[in-house]
Amino acid sequence: LKAAVFASGAGSNFQAIIEKRDLACEIALLICDKQNAGVIEIAKKHQIPTFIFSAKEFASKQAFEEKIVSELRKIEVSWIFLAGYMRIVGSTLLQAFPGKIVNIHPSFLPNFPGKDAIEQAYQAGVNTTGVTVHYIDEGIDTGPIIAQESVAIYSEDTEETLKKRIQEVEHELYPNVINQLLQQSEG
Ligand code: GRF
Repeated sequence: LKAAVFASGAGSNFQAIIEKRDLACEIALLICDKQNAGVIEIAKKHQIPTFIFSAKEFASKQAFEEKIVSELRKIEVSWIFLAGYMRIVGSTLLQAFPGKIVNIHPSFLPNFPGKDAIEQAYQAGVNTTGVTVHYIDEGIDTGPIIAQESVAIYSEDTEETLKKRIQEVEHELYPNVINQLLQQSEG
């Protein structure tokens, strides 16, 4: 069973997924839209194939998503896990992989959707935030929730210490949820 991870950044979640010992699928491809993203080095180190693209080289979102879909079909990928992919998934991908695109978001949705969710929670002065794994739909961080875990915010926290605590939860939660999903589904 093959899956692809889409990421744009440092790749700590990608790393947590590929390093999970009993992961129920093969991470067959990393899709990345940033030429110098840290995640690319992690993929190389683990000899995971990459498809790196620049959105600017395509006429439209539809055009680059069609190219991505063809790359995924070529190797028979059946699941897509977004891990810090900083683009809104469009209808081309959604229609090609219905019910098979999952995202991790660093807040307890529906609180703090969108960009900078950790900063948003920190600035709001609340004492708890969290992590959410959810299916993707046409909206921003609005798809059906699969799993959530709350994370405390302490008065002595800085944004950095909070981020670290959230990421530790992400790295544990996401690979586990992926395994649960794959065990429940037939492919
Ligand atoms: C994570 O916090 C994830 O929840 C969010 O983007 C961040 C990616 O971090 N969607 P990394 O690249 O996995 O380190």
